[in-house]
Amino acid sequence: MSESPDAVRLDERHPHITPRRVKFDWTRTPLHWIPGEPVATHFINTLHLLLPAGERWFVHVYKQALPLIAEDQEQLRREVRGFMGQEAVHAYSHQGVLDHQMLEQGLDPRPLTRRIEWMFTVLLGDRPPLPVFTRRRWLDFRIGIISGIEHYTAVLGQWILDARALDEAGADPTMMDLLRWHGAEEVEHRSVAFDVYQHLSGVYWRRFIAFFIGAVAMPLAVYVGAAYLCAKDPALHGVRPRLRDYRRAVRRGIFPSNRFMLTAARTYLRRDYHPSAECSTRKALDYLATSPAALAAARTRPPSPDR
Ligand SMILES: [Fe+2]
Ligand SMILES: [Fe+2]
Repeated sequence: MSESPDAVRLDERHPHITPRRVKFDWTRTPLHWIPGEPVATHFINTLHLLLPAGERWFVHVYKQALPLIAEDQEQLRREVRGFMGQEAVHAYSHQGVLDHQMLEQGLDPRPLTRRIEWMFTVLLGDRPPLPVFTRRRWLDFRIGIISGIEHYTAVLGQWILDARALDEAGADPTMMDLLRWHGAEEVEHRSVAFDVYQHLSGVYWRRFIAFFIGAVAMPLAVYVGAAYLCAKDPALHGVRPRLRDYRRAVRRGIFPSNRFMLTAARTYLRRDYHPSAECSTRKALDYLATSPAALAAARTRPPSPDR
């Protein structure tokens, strides 16, 4: 992370967090929004499959965590409320891609998204899946999983903000604005989930295990999601994503590499890790200052009472 010495010093640990009520119009976004790259498009589209249910689950879990945060931690409580507000808008916005950008162009994601919904509401729901978990332990464990996922959403948010190759490839500007607005807010609120975990549990080995489960599930989810979308895409006639499609996308700089993901894992597993040392709030805010969706939301937003 580099900033000019005269840049206004930002509080990387506690920037102000508030939702931006963005809206997106999908009528002009083609199904293959990276021109000539349908498979790479579907690798990234996996996000739209996972995030609506996933981020609604974050909000559900944090509703239970919020009352457990100590009364004297008003700053953290305020950040958690801001975090929940941002994640709720993210979920809604990615749902819009499924309902409009995909479904209206003949690609039906619902058979798979119903399973993903089940995974988050039942498998990762409020009932502990094993007798070793008390209700509280199970809550702490889920907060640990969210902390690990939020590390990846932040570093991937930074990645998408910096991914000039996607612009050079002619990626659709509305889709890029959705991904970069979301990525920028992930960078902005990147410390919240970790701070909540540290406050409520803070046990290193549990953080390690929770992260490991999330890290194994992620590449699997990307493959299953991309394979489903390729199979159901009316223009692809049952094409299957192959390793060489992934390698080609990485070489072009339009998809993050395994090396990037492994480096991020090593960073998160350091004992002295704190998200404030990763990514750049300045870059995130710079993008949000020019994002068409964020600017339109700012024009219609009433002044925030807790600013
Ligand atoms: Fe999010
Ligand atoms: Fe997030």
